[in-house]
Amino acid sequence: MEKLVVVGGTKLEGEVTVSGSKNSILPIMAATLLCDGEAVIHRVPRLKDVLVMQQLLEFLGAKTKMEDKTMIIDARGVKPEKVTEILMRKLRASNLVIGPLLARFGEVQAAYPGGCAIGSRPMDLHVRGFQKLGVQVKEKYGYIEAKAKKIVGADIHLDFPSVGATENLMMAAALGSGTTILRNVAREPEILDLQNFLNLMGAKVSGAGLDVIKITGVSKLHSAEHEVIPDRIETGTHMVAAALSRGRVTVAKTIPEHVEPVMAKLREAGVTVNQGNDYVEVIAKERPRPIDVKTMPYPGFPTDMQPQIMVLMSIARGTSIVSESIFENRFKHVDELRRLGARIKIEGKIAVINGVPKLNGALVEATDLRAGAALLLAGLVAEDITVIENVHHLDRGYESIEQKYTQLGARVVRVNNGVRS
Ligand code: UD1
Repeated sequence: MEKLVVVGGTKLEGEVTVSGSKNSILPIMAATLLCDGEAVIHRVPRLKDVLVMQQLLEFLGAKTKMEDKTMIIDARGVKPEKVTEILMRKLRASNLVIGPLLARFGEVQAAYPGGCAIGSRPMDLHVRGFQKLGVQVKEKYGYIEAKAKKIVGADIHLDFPSVGATENLMMAAALGSGTTILRNVAREPEILDLQNFLNLMGAKVSGAGLDVIKITGVSKLHSAEHEVIPDRIETGTHMVAAALSRGRVTVAKTIPEHVEPVMAKLREAGVTVNQGNDYVEVIAKERPRPIDVKTMPYPGFPTDMQPQIMVLMSIARGTSIVSESIFENRFKHVDELRRLGARIKIEGKIAVINGVPKLNGALVEATDLRAGAALLLAGLVAEDITVIENVHHLDRGYESIEQKYTQLGARVVRVNNGVRS
């Protein structure tokens, strides 16, 4: 089992470059299933989740090739194979192939993604949207069986701006007849990136980034070349790491506008954040002031940054409050942070964090991707040594994470069964 061993206490200094966005590349890879030609995608991060999505596309019959940071996908030979539980459980976002497979073949069978560490993750909004598009959906033995003679345009209002449902419905409606209006959609930057990619393939999609998306179905989509946007959660993670270590770090090749809520909270905590066109610089000199954070759909504070910002609150000069409004069970990192000396109380969806002057190294376990990121950040500032188990969670969403922090001066190594790897 791989672990990260972190010797805390170094100031992070220098520049770190952000990789392509995990949450953009996954729906974009799914969207290549709609393409009657070759899709060339640049700035693809080497992540476990990307590898699993690549395996899923190949299982369905696509040809894929990775050259440096460019992925070439030819989905012309794809067949609507049954997407098994094994694939679905490895990667929740594999449910994003349902929309494109429906649009292309009019049928799909896929296992339900099931619950996960941070919540139950239902698919009711996806399913109701598909039904409005003329799809018949049956749920049998943990599988979704969906069939449609053809996808017909519809007016769909989402009860909640779900990222996955917005993406799945955009892709389902892109190939087909009629016009679809999606209301109360997710406004995350990754939705706009997907819209841009779909339009490069010849789709007619507009409105991404706003509350209403309009899709006029077309009969065919063609080859396209696209570069994925930078990962805003990776950007935010490095920003918090810099603030925690009281260092000075430039987070390069990113889009500052996408991390506005993180910048705002860091400034409130007394951290200096300078921004340029494609970078943010974070400078911190002292213990942060306490802050309150409520997670919200974009452009609110991202739930995917909640565990990381909680580490900053753990060493603040007073009491901070986190209110988690997106996922019902996203406080798994709290027990682990307590092992490092953090003083945190949970009341339902609220966490009350009493800042302590310092954290102390301990043996902790990453329970999910962002919990793992939080523990790594905590380890970077804790006194002595922190060992983080179950590092595979971190590899799902952070490319070369220990190399990036080592470059900034951190002391972190990966060990496998006691041997440095
Ligand atoms: C995406 C991101 C994930 C992020 C999340 C919220 C990807 C690959 N993953 O996940 O990193 O944490 O957005 O920003 O982009 N819900 C329902 N019914 C549905 C769908 C969702 O009740 O049919 C609920 C979920 O249980 C959850 C909330 O809506 O409580 C948000 O989920 P959603 O926006 O769909 O997140 P994902 O697309 O799964």
